[in-house]
Amino acid sequence: NWVFLNGEYMPSEQAKISPMDRGFLFGDGIYEVIPSYGGKFVGFEPHILRLQQGLAEIEINLPIGLQQWRDICQQLAKKNGNGNLGIYLQVSRGTSPVRYHAYPDDIEPTVFAYAFEIPPAPVADKEKVKAYRVKTLSDLRWQRCNIKSTALLGNVMHFQTGYKEGFDEVLLFNQDNMLTEAAACNAFVVTGKVIATPPLDSQLLPGITRLILLDVLRQYSHFTVEERSVSKAEVLNADEVWITSSTKQVAPVISIDNNPVGGGRVGDVWHQAQQLFSEHQF
Ligand code: PDD
Repeated sequence: NWVFLNGEYMPSEQAKISPMDRGFLFGDGIYEVIPSYGGKFVGFEPHILRLQQGLAEIEINLPIGLQQWRDICQQLAKKNGNGNLGIYLQVSRGTSPVRYHAYPDDIEPTVFAYAFEIPPAPVADKEKVKAYRVKTLSDLRWQRCNIKSTALLGNVMHFQTGYKEGFDEVLLFNQDNMLTEAAACNAFVVTGKVIATPPLDSQLLPGITRLILLDVLRQYSHFTVEERSVSKAEVLNADEVWITSSTKQVAPVISIDNNPVGGGRVGDVWHQAQQLFSEHQF
C-alpha cells in the first residue's frame, strides 16, 4: 500500500504527519476523490480544477499544476496495482508550532495522497445495482458547502444519523424545504420527462459526477434537464430519485423515510442515465 506524502512515495506505515498539522487540529484543508478503473481516471481535469479552486478559496498556495497532479495520480495508481481505485488527495494548510486560529504566512502545505480499492465501474443493470434507502434530514451544515473541505463533521453527523437507523444515505433540505444534496452525494429527481437537480450555490458541492451526468443527459438523452430548486414535495412525489458520486456514479434511490419511490423499484430512466454515463464517462 503505497502513499504519497510531500513529494515522496512510501509504504503507508512510513508516512508520518505531525499532530500540529492544521489539517488534524482544525480540519484546515481541501480534499478530492478521483476514481480510476484499470489506470483510467474519470473526470480527472474537473477534479483537479475543483481542488485548485478550493485551495484558492481558502488561500492555500500550492505550486502543483494539472500535469504534476496527473503524474502523482498515475504513479500512485500504478504502484497500487492499477485496479479499481479511488485516489484520495488531501492538501492541508500545513504544520505550525502553535495552535492559533490565524494562519502564518510562511506555512508549507502538507500534500498527501493514497489509493483505496473501489468496486468495478458500475453498469446499468437493474438486478445488480445497489438500490438506496434514504432518510430526509434538515441540512445543518455550514454555508460554504461548495468548498470540498476536509472538515466533514457536519456531513459525518448527518450520515451517521441515517446509518444508525439502517439507512444507506440521507437527503438534506434547507430551511425553505428545498433539496440541497446528500451527506456524500449530489441528488437528482425525475418527474415525467424532466430530470432536475439543485443549482450550484454555496449549499452543495459541485460534484464531478453531477457535472458529467448533466453533460451526457443534455447531449444524448431525450429528457429535459433542469438545474433549479427542487422542493421536498417534488422529491417525495418523484418518479425516480438518484444520488451521484465518484465511486457510485448514478445510484437509484428506492425509498425515502421508508416510503417507496417510484413503486419501490429501480427505474427505467435510471437505467438510461447510468448506461449513458458508462458510455461517455472517460
Ligand atoms: N464525496 N456532495 C458531497 C457532500 C460529497 O462529499 C460528494 C463526494 C459529492 C459528489 O461529488 P463527486 O461526484 O465529485 O464525487 C457531493 C466523496 C466521494 C467523499 O467524500 O468520499
